[in-house]
Amino acid sequence: MTTLIRGGTVLSASGRCRADVLIDGERVVALVAPGDTTLGVDLAGAAEVVVDATGKYVVPGGVDVHTHMELPFGGTAASDTFETGTRAAAWGGTTTIVDFAVQRTGERVQDCLAAWHAKAAGNCAVDYGFHQILGGVDEDALKAMDELVGEGITSFKLFMAYPGVFLSDDGQILRAMQRARENGSLVMMHAENGTVIDVLVQQALARGETAPVNHGLTRPWETEEEATHRAIMLARLTGAPLYVVHMSAKQAVATLAAARREGLNVFGETCPQYLYLSLEEQLGAPGFQGATWVCSTPLRARSEGHQDQLWGYLRSGDLSVVSTDHCPFCLKEQKELGIGDFSKIPNGIGGVEHRLDLLYQGVVDGHISLERWVELCSTTPARMFGLYGRKGVIEPGADADVVVYDPNGHTSIGVGKTHHMNMDHSAWEGFEIQGKVDTVLSRGSVIVQDNQYRGRPGHGRFLPRGLSQYLG
Ligand code: URP
Ligand code: ZN
Ligand code: ZN
Repeated sequence: MTTLIRGGTVLSASGRCRADVLIDGERVVALVAPGDTTLGVDLAGAAEVVVDATGKYVVPGGVDVHTHMELPFGGTAASDTFETGTRAAAWGGTTTIVDFAVQRTGERVQDCLAAWHAKAAGNCAVDYGFHQILGGVDEDALKAMDELVGEGITSFKLFMAYPGVFLSDDGQILRAMQRARENGSLVMMHAENGTVIDVLVQQALARGETAPVNHGLTRPWETEEEATHRAIMLARLTGAPLYVVHMSAKQAVATLAAARREGLNVFGETCPQYLYLSLEEQLGAPGFQGATWVCSTPLRARSEGHQDQLWGYLRSGDLSVVSTDHCPFCLKEQKELGIGDFSKIPNGIGGVEHRLDLLYQGVVDGHISLERWVELCSTTPARMFGLYGRKGVIEPGADADVVVYDPNGHTSIGVGKTHHMNMDHSAWEGFEIQGKVDTVLSRGSVIVQDNQYRGRPGHGRFLPRGLSQYLG
């Protein structure tokens, strides 16, 4: 099957050009200047499928390196399966996800990874890879890290939060980082001081402060900044690279930026919720409504200026990636577990469908350039996690994961409008985007077009990943 995407402006992290994109089977084979006849006078006539991209941007498919499909958490499980979650991703122009397999204390890492393979295999609409969460770092888990690297799981998430569930102590973190230093893998850190947070939570509950807003008030920026600093020091000590996930506090990013100025291999990720939403407006909404936006790290106070600073850090390059941390829970029977006790609200926001749109609105609003949009949503995540060349770019040899994005289109986000995630609400209800995902291709197959979903479960394949290409 040959496909020609004709008449668009092809965007990359480094520039833009008018070009037609020729696809043979699953791969891009050529970018052809409009009017060029080197490959024949009538390329459109010769191609079996022609996608008209006139007046539109042609961008590499989105790479979301932080999702939690079916994650068991807080006495329930994230409501998107790999089938529903990757279909929603496809609708929003994300053609690769990297999800987190979970290991807890006493569990064999290899068994946990096998369980995640079983959940995903045959169900995904788009390609997928895995990171491995290590919730119980012991001798076996450390050995397993080497084995997993050989199987294309080249990044490991550790937690400084959630004592008794996922938290690793500093000695465990040190040992995992030493191992990562040896085997070339990347440590991803949930940087919040969970021990301190647990005390603040118990004290708030004892005072009768039970509403959702207290989730944010008991996780103040100091707990994120302190943990980020500690993680950086441990990375410095071991020489291991570090990737700090879902950063929301400007002070934590400032600490990361200072370490980067010193030449340390430390990287930061943020998510659309930390750029647009706030403690006052969303988490602090009346009654129990704020539960919708309970996630960790928490939404921060707009009065403290975090959101604007984070946009600045995206421009300066100190934040490298925007992922979603897609971790959806319904209000009914899931978030509702925390009525009367905010600490029982399952942590997470669903957003895998909206990242490209929300960040494109950042282009419209003048926060970032078109090229930076592509870099943050596709190219850098692919490069950070060993997928670049195949994903994250439109060039000969790359997988033909392509989004045709219409800058003259419009997207109204919300339930009953654009909402394909398996949730009974949208954390992004009412957001209006001055742009629209028009057509999506995954490995050469059109999976979204004309407001229709044309994909299928099982089209998405497992992606064994190489080591981070930022560090090699
Ligand atoms: O609130 C969040 N972020 N839920 C997902 C689990 C995690 O820590 O990433
Ligand atoms: Zn986390
Ligand atoms: Zn997460």
